[in-house]
Amino acid sequence: MRFSHILSTLVLVVSGVCGVDLSIKSEESIRNATALISSGLMDYYWGFDSGGTIGMFTNPYYWWEAGGAWGSMLEYSFLLENDTWHDTIMTAMLYQVGDNWDYIPLNQSTVEGNDDQAFWGIAALTACERNFTNPGDDEPQWLYLAQAVFNTMALRWDTEKCGGGLRWQIFQWNAGYDYKNSVSNAGLFHIGARLARFTGNETYVTWCEEIYDWMVGVNFLTQGDFWFVYDGASVEDNCSSVTKLQWSYNAGLMVSGCAYLYNHTEEKKWLTRTEKLVNGIQVFFDDDVMYEAACQGSGNCNNDQRSFKAYLSRFLGYTSILAPTTWSTIRPWIETSAKAAAGSCVGGYDGHTCGLNWTMNGWDGFYGLGEQMSALEVIQNLLIADRPAPYTASNGGSSTGDPAAGTQTTTTVDSPLSLGKGDTAGAAIITCIIGVSLISGGLWLVL
Ligand SMILES: *[C@@H]1O[C@H](CO)[C@@H](O)[C@H](O)[C@H]1NC(C)=O
Ligand SMILES: *[C@@H]1O[C@H](CO)[C@@H](O)[C@H](O)[C@H]1NC(C)=O
Ligand SMILES: *[C@@H]1O[C@H](CO)[C@@H](O)[C@H](O)[C@H]1NC(C)=O
Ligand SMILES: *[C@@H]1O[C@H](CO)[C@@H](O)[C@H](O)[C@H]1NC(C)=O
Ligand SMILES: *[C@@H]1O[C@H](CO)[C@@H](O)[C@H](O)[C@H]1NC(C)=O
Ligand SMILES: *[C@@H]1O[C@H](CO)[C@@H](O)[C@H](O)[C@H]1NC(C)=O
Ligand SMILES: *[C@@H]1O[C@H](CO)[C@@H](O)[C@H](O)[C@H]1NC(C)=O
Ligand SMILES: *[C@@H]1O[C@H](CO)[C@@H](O)[C@H](O)[C@H]1NC(C)=O
Repeated sequence: MRFSHILSTLVLVVSGVCGVDLSIKSEESIRNATALISSGLMDYYWGFDSGGTIGMFTNPYYWWEAGGAWGSMLEYSFLLENDTWHDTIMTAMLYQVGDNWDYIPLNQSTVEGNDDQAFWGIAALTACERNFTNPGDDEPQWLYLAQAVFNTMALRWDTEKCGGGLRWQIFQWNAGYDYKNSVSNAGLFHIGARLARFTGNETYVTWCEEIYDWMVGVNFLTQGDFWFVYDGASVEDNCSSVTKLQWSYNAGLMVSGCAYLYNHTEEKKWLTRTEKLVNGIQVFFDDDVMYEAACQGSGNCNNDQRSFKAYLSRFLGYTSILAPTTWSTIRPWIETSAKAAAGSCVGGYDGHTCGLNWTMNGWDGFYGLGEQMSALEVIQNLLIADRPAPYTASNGGSSTGDPAAGTQTTTTVDSPLSLGKGDTAGAAIITCIIGVSLISGGLWLVL
């Protein structure tokens, strides 16, 4: 996973992405840096090449991360007003919608988790809020897709264990079906909050209240001196033993969800929650430079985790715009992190590959889709206030939907198969392995 040390030593002499000095903070330097970094991101996309699949990034990147990456590229197109990748994004996001137009495509239908589906739903919402070109009349619309994701996920709300909540997995044969986690529930919360603001439909607010209260009730979200979002818990003991790992994307989903709800309802309650979560998010900053606290220091971040800083950057950007009192806290984090990230994008054979550790003042030898996404999103966020705030249906968003999307066609939701004893044992073993590697990766963060 690392290029040679000689290369990384050589690149240390360069001051930023091909000499781009982000301290100038001019739009031109941001444009130059993000043009290179976004091109580097798209180097991982071989959707139109032989052996590639439209909408998917190259091995080893899972389907969910492609949903995340199209979100990054949508933001890039909007913030930089650059339509170079317009058709590519459009084709990719429509190719993966699945037969029921709910982002459960057949190829993923036996392995997809709630969190995976959520990240494609989030990309669809970004298309709504950035008024991305509407698909043709015979194709699913962005708002419809976001609503279908929300509705199919909400149908899986399970009150049998832990008093509510979504399980991690959709299907009982997958490892993790017996685990309820923050990212699935925070994903539903986040999507609901954005749908509430975009459509003005109060039903989504009611849902968000329930999800939020449930997460607090089972201690996935703690409200002590610092408000933290933990990983999740097994249903075996009714969610009573919480895995206290903190991932930056979970905090990002929750804080921005609260900010959308505050912006929509103007209720003080949601502002307080937003501000408290922003305060807790300082655990992901070291001298104002963002890092993935649970795995980065120990060098154990997997491919998924190496993209999490992209979402935290994007979601903090939305938060700072929708709940303006948070701007003064968030903005210095973004500015310092963007500059540091640009300093890491001096690696690889092309000379502008981004690394994982942004405090290195150079490239640390790591590279991948997640590294490109994270650097791109934190740097392009410098322009967040120079472009319109996320649109709603009443002030610029033109996507159309259907509040009942996804509820008529539930064939991919209810599994026709039942799980045999052997399968259960296999699933338990895999869950156990995942559990152990999670714990060894970030034990220290159990705060
Ligand atoms: C941006 O790139 C253009 C074209 O390569 C170059 O002329 C210009 O000096 C760059 N600007 C900055 C601020 O780096
Ligand atoms: C638009 O983006 C592409 C690729 O990401 C980049 O090569 C190009 O320079 C950008 N154009 C402008 C005007 O920034
Ligand atoms: C599903 O997989 C097949 C075989 O790899 C591929 O040809 C097809 O494009 C894929 N469809 C989607 C929606 O990814
Ligand atoms: C399981 O947890 C939920 C939520 O904390 C609680 O309401 C319920 O009473 C618990 N059930 C049992 C059997 O302990
Ligand atoms: C990043 O690199 C710096 C400088 O080498 C080092 O001090 C720091 O511990 C590293 N941070 C992480 C999170 O790995
Ligand atoms: C909602 O967001 C907009 C756009 O940034 C902002 O102008 C407005 O003040 C926000 N509303 C509240 C209640 O803060
Ligand atoms: C959004 O897109 C629609 C359809 O293309 C267009 O009519 C409308 O002007 C756009 N809104 C904004 C704010 O650009
Ligand atoms: C609001 O959303 C709910 C749930 O999706 C739906 O049943 C209801 O019809 C929607 N209301 C309006 C006015 O669209």
